[in-house]
Amino acid sequence: MKFPEFLDKASNKIKLDLNSYKENRVKRRINNLMKKHNIKDYKSCLNKLGSNSDFQEAFLEHMTINTSEFFRNPKNYEYLQNKIFPELFNKKNKVKIWSAAASNGCEAYTLAIILNELGIKANRYQIKATDIDPSILAEAKTGKYKDNALKKVPKEILNKYFTKKDDHYQLDSKIMSRVQFSRLDLLKDRYDNNLDLILCRNVFIYFTKEVKDQLTTKLSNSLVNDGILFLGNTEYLLKPDQFNLNKVYNSFYQKKQ
Ligand SMILES: C[S@@+](CC[C@H](N)C(=O)[O-])C[C@H]1O[C@@H](n2cnc3c(N)ncnc32)[C@H](O)[C@@H]1O
Repeated sequence: MKFPEFLDKASNKIKLDLNSYKENRVKRRINNLMKKHNIKDYKSCLNKLGSNSDFQEAFLEHMTINTSEFFRNPKNYEYLQNKIFPELFNKKNKVKIWSAAASNGCEAYTLAIILNELGIKANRYQIKATDIDPSILAEAKTGKYKDNALKKVPKEILNKYFTKKDDHYQLDSKIMSRVQFSRLDLLKDRYDNNLDLILCRNVFIYFTKEVKDQLTTKLSNSLVNDGILFLGNTEYLLKPDQFNLNKVYNSFYQKKQ
């Protein structure tokens, strides 16, 4: 069986369109996984995907890179704290926020911590956090983190919001209650609308240019006029105009009126 045929059939089995991701990377990762599980060819891999739900789960996990950390790219979070949030909450009573490839929740919880630090009451905002991978969402809901996710957390924030347990840190339950997690596939599911702030960070890098453009259009359509799209550090838009967006700072784009 040739790779393109395998990819179509595997996509059907795991219900995720692998053709939307950069081909070289997908191929490399599938070959690695097959080696690890002693699978000799694509046909056997497909059979295993069809008959073994544990393998199906491992396959999906392997295709989605879940790396995340609190306060990832701190300068951008400073901008959010000092500029974006004050302006947003001055303008609106209730603010709708979406962390669109939320992974283990570090990003969404960072927002909840910053809003708490700004003294903004929880009834003035909603933070939705979604991801394609159910196992990482389950992890996010535990609020347990290892050192590597906490390297950029300022000391006083770490002491205030985390409790050291044996081999991990436990996030404060009040902060955890401010984020709602659910599963969403950015490729095929419907997005909410009238959002004030969308974080879609460090996931575009895995998609083809064509898919990235389609998703940027969908994200822009989901924002209110003036709403903000916050991307990953390396994921700038060459022509924000094309998506009805203006660049405002580093990885921040604002929807035009
Ligand atoms: C590298 S993590 C980024 C986490 C976080 N946004 C950050 O920047 O720290 C990428 C996440 O994108 C998710 N992902 C990949 N494809 C997706 C899709 N089609 N729909 C939703 N999430 C997806 C993965 O499961 C993974 O958790």
